[in-house]
Amino acid sequence: MKKHIVVIAGDGIGQEVTAVGKQVLERIAEKFGHEFTYDEALIGHAAIEATGNPLPEETITKSKASDAILFGAVGHPKYDNDPSAKVRPEQGLLGIRKALGLYANLRPIKLFDELLGASSIKPEFLQGADILFFRELTGDVYFGEKGRNEDRSTAYDTMIYSRYEIERIAEKAFEAAMTRRKKLCSVDKANVLESSRLWREVVQDVAKRYPDVEVEHQFIDAAAMLLIKDPRRFDVVLTGNLFGDILTDEASQIAGSMGMLASASVGDTVGLYEPIHGSAHDIAGKGVANPLASVLSVALMLDISFGLKTEAETVLAAVDNVLKAGYRTRDIADTNTSSDRILGTEAIGARLIAELN
Ligand code: NAD
Ligand code: IPM
Ligand code: MN
Repeated sequence: MKKHIVVIAGDGIGQEVTAVGKQVLERIAEKFGHEFTYDEALIGHAAIEATGNPLPEETITKSKASDAILFGAVGHPKYDNDPSAKVRPEQGLLGIRKALGLYANLRPIKLFDELLGASSIKPEFLQGADILFFRELTGDVYFGEKGRNEDRSTAYDTMIYSRYEIERIAEKAFEAAMTRRKKLCSVDKANVLESSRLWREVVQDVAKRYPDVEVEHQFIDAAAMLLIKDPRRFDVVLTGNLFGDILTDEASQIAGSMGMLASASVGDTVGLYEPIHGSAHDIAGKGVANPLASVLSVALMLDISFGLKTEAETVLAAVDNVLKAGYRTRDIADTNTSSDRILGTEAIGARLIAELN
């Protein structure tokens, strides 16, 4: 199979983890006789430095012409600590999601048994947890009208959703639930927010077309609590852009680390695959970042964009085997990990490639 992949590594550890993700793609192509070609494109702080624009037009053009995008992360502490900055790395990521119509962000919480001890949650509450988040990605308070009043002493961001936007992601989530345990939890704040009341109304309407799916609605505050109290009660979780962003960082602790959570952003055009974590400047450049979220994102790309199920499963099995052999990056090491098994980004990448031979 011939495929063209655009690699947009971005900032901080985005560069480090994406390098490993790409090596895995190259190895899979070799092993299974596929022809994957690659191009690179700029985004975020790296793009601002080079062009003044966090999302150069060329990045969109290249992305649209590709079969899939492997994305790293954006962000820089310079902007995090400067609320007045008008041009920001994150605008690159938000912009590409919007430009490519990537309205559905799938964030699987895949728990490897070997990592039960890496979580701060007791293993007996975790074993068997398997959740698939559907986070809406191109609407909500992220994209509603925002601004300041004249003397800049008041600021606002508008939380806004249309029926159409809710319906199309709800349908995707229900379809996925049908292939899983047929349970769907929709998360909103309908006791307070009008946009959430529309969300709930639309989800209830869509639910009528999926009578086999058991549906529950939870408020975001209770959902955040239940996720930690009893992660196994969830199957598919459907939520908006902001709530989904927050809940999935929380849910990463079920899988053991931010460095384990992959995602697929899909919509009407090309799919974009990225770890859920950011540029992590606290560890960037140190060679210690966990690249498995990028590798698991590659598995999602192979499966969802290319329909290469065996290849995707081969990647998952390789990750599993590396973990079974006791190798860890430092974020997923626990008290049972011997120090000679704690590897850096490149070294654990090399173990994975060896596993794929
Ligand atoms: P972050 O996800 O970058 O890091 C949060 C914590 O998790 C840090 O302690 C970090 O060291 C750790 N961590 C994250 N990924 C890891 C990995 N692969 N291996 C080991 N440890 C890992 O979030 P933050 O610190 O809040 O944000 C840093 C910057 O990244 C900000 O500028 C933010 O806007 C940006 N950001 C970008 C994305 C994205 O590009 N998708 C996502 C989140 C944050
Ligand atoms: C994510 C990030 C982004 C988001 C930021 C960097 C714009 O946190 O991908 O989860 O909030 O969507
Ligand atoms: Mn996030």
